[in-house]
Amino acid sequence: MEPKFLLKVAEKFGTPLYVYDEDQIRRNYRVFFSAFKSRYKNTKIFYAYKANSSLAICHILHQEEAGADVVSECELRTAQRVGVKAMNIIFTNNGKTDGELQIAIDSDVTINIDSMNELYRLHKIAKDKRKKARVSFRVNPSIDARTHPKIATGLKESKFGIHLENDLAFKAYRLAKELDWIEVSGIHTHIGSQITDVTAFREMTEKIMQFVCELKENLDIRLRFVNLGGGLGISYKGENIPTPDSLAETIIPIIKKFNTQLGYDPELWLEPGRYIVGNAGILLCKVTGVKETPHRKFVNVDTGFNALMRPAMYDSYHRVQVLSKAEEESTEIYDIAGNICESGDILAKERKLPKIDNGDIIAILDAGAYGFSMSSQYNLRPRPSEVLVWGDTVEVIRERESCEEFFKNQRVPKDLLE
Ligand code: LLP
Repeated sequence: MEPKFLLKVAEKFGTPLYVYDEDQIRRNYRVFFSAFKSRYKNTKIFYAYKANSSLAICHILHQEEAGADVVSECELRTAQRVGVKAMNIIFTNNGKTDGELQIAIDSDVTINIDSMNELYRLHKIAKDKRKKARVSFRVNPSIDARTHPKIATGLKESKFGIHLENDLAFKAYRLAKELDWIEVSGIHTHIGSQITDVTAFREMTEKIMQFVCELKENLDIRLRFVNLGGGLGISYKGENIPTPDSLAETIIPIIKKFNTQLGYDPELWLEPGRYIVGNAGILLCKVTGVKETPHRKFVNVDTGFNALMRPAMYDSYHRVQVLSKAEEESTEIYDIAGNICESGDILAKERKLPKIDNGDIIAILDAGAYGFSMSSQYNLRPRPSEVLVWGDTVEVIRERESCEEFFKNQRVPKDLLE
């Protein structure tokens, strides 16, 4: 999206504003899907809703025939609302409540079990309902995905999954096979996010496929699908990182090698989130002032970590462009300071940019994944509006919140007022 065009969008819809490129989302999806599909026919993609669960975006991915990886009741409702069929929804999260398990069974989705406790509770609920629950187990392969520690999920110390270690996962499958109201359908793992080295994916695929073979040989369990999660990184700094093609080139031969031993080709399920929407979204904000301290030059903008949490939470880097000075030379070093009352609210540190003035419009790039979906109303800041660009059309897909949002669900006890 060109600076001139984005400036017009900012003027028309106001800031802060998330702007998404419909065409880019579709292109990302197709690149990802075909990288795997062209090498392995039985591939199914489950878009990870947590990356961006705005209805219009989920609609686009449903039109592309993506399934849904959901982790909460409302993500599940979103998938149902955009029309994703139950067979194409997997419900994953750790610590599911009985209520969530009931909803998942009632909705006929695949339930990804995270612990033995969950399995027992699910079995009881299924038995009471006289309805079989279709499950996979999330297994923890004890692999370091070499990403930010807060988004590594397959480490041996991690809270996720049932460990392959000590035969825990093996025992889980052995037990589940005996349970009347459980239908064992697949296996799942997800070792982390923003992974930029395929080695971890290679190790993980080897371990999981080896285990799938053991289940077949020792327990005669024939899994319908192998779900290897999401996690492929994107290039936030413009650096060269593995593409879906290189990931597929790495893992598909491993799967095929083990399939010969297995005697059949299980479905391959993948759950990309960031790759699909990350570079398709931009956060636009406006400069409210430039402030020089004896130590740094801060650019104050009209948004903060309530709108884009990633820099504060993971020290993550997002490229920044001064749209209104796109043609000018970068001569100054600035920190882009968010407007939240916390020192940690710096959206970008030490960036070389053109000289900035009040009213300039700044674009924070690659904010489509885990941007709006992690936003909050902290400091009672209304969340930004979102617009979708396709062809020459720009349309609001989420209205800007107002102060009324903050009061809507609150009550002040009557006695307190007297
Ligand atoms: N599947 C499961 C089970 C997951 O937990 C996740 C992400 C995905 C798939 C999608 O992973 P992706 O392809 O997007 O890497 N908020 C963090 C990222 C947290 C990821 C959580 N799980 C961030 O902003 O970097």
